[in-house]
Amino acid sequence: MYDKGKIIIGVIIFLALLLSPFLYQLGKPVTAPTLVLGTKEKQCVESLAFMKSSHMVLLDTWRDEVVREGKSLYVNSAGKPYNMSLQNTCMKCHTTKTQFCDRCHDYLDVAPNCWDCHIAPKEKEQQVARSVK
Ligand code: HEC
Ligand code: HEC
Ligand code: HEC
Repeated sequence: MYDKGKIIIGVIIFLALLLSPFLYQLGKPVTAPTLVLGTKEKQCVESLAFMKSSHMVLLDTWRDEVVREGKSLYVNSAGKPYNMSLQNTCMKCHTTKTQFCDRCHDYLDVAPNCWDCHIAPKEKEQQVARSVK
């Protein structure tokens, strides 16, 4: 006959081991990721607060205006013009997708599908090396 008591204890130990990495994480403060802007420019297309909260909305508007309305120029709130392009505008400044877009998105568990079609910038080795230390 099976020894039910031992089996149950075994199952409990197994589950505890399985869950331990998660339980271990529970008490730890989650540190926000370090972002590499990838540019020496000081200003984004719009204010920092606006970009933080609404870059996805801005990108959506850009896509619709380019694809549906055939427009190409966006004039920001300060009157500065930008070509409405993910690759040729956003990624010309934010040259490291992995250490900027991805780092924040992974942290927040967001996974935009844009890169299925749009080409991410080629990242330089040095840039990666520099930010690791
Ligand atoms: C001319 C260069 C430039 C372009 C073009 C640009 N950015 Fe930025 N971006 C910056 C800079 C510089 C900052 C930091 C601004 C600050 O600290 O005030 C920034 C900040 C951001 C932030 C906030 C980061 C944080 O710390 O929270 C997001 C998100 C962002 N940009 C996304 C985009 C997207 C999406 C596009 C295209 C629609 C874009 N950027 C185009 C230079 C640029
Ligand atoms: C400071 C953090 C941060 C940075 C940096 C950042 N994002 Fe985001 N991104 C977010 C958040 C938060 C959301 C919204 C998630 C939601 O609404 O569920 C988001 C959503 C998006 C979405 C919409 C995704 C969807 O499925 O609806 C797109 C597109 C996007 N980001 C593009 C970019 C691009 C391109 C860059 C780099 C140039 C970038 N983001 C950098 C925080 C960031
Ligand atoms: C199924 C493929 C596909 C996916 C996925 C996709 N796009 Fe696009 N996107 C296109 C094509 C094709 C165009 C038109 C290119 C042109 O007219 O030059 C375009 C154009 C755009 C444009 C304007 C032109 C440019 O150079 O950027 C923006 C902005 C844009 N997409 C943003 C996004 C964002 C943000 C996402 C992710 C939320 C996304 N796209 C996902 C295929 C895609």
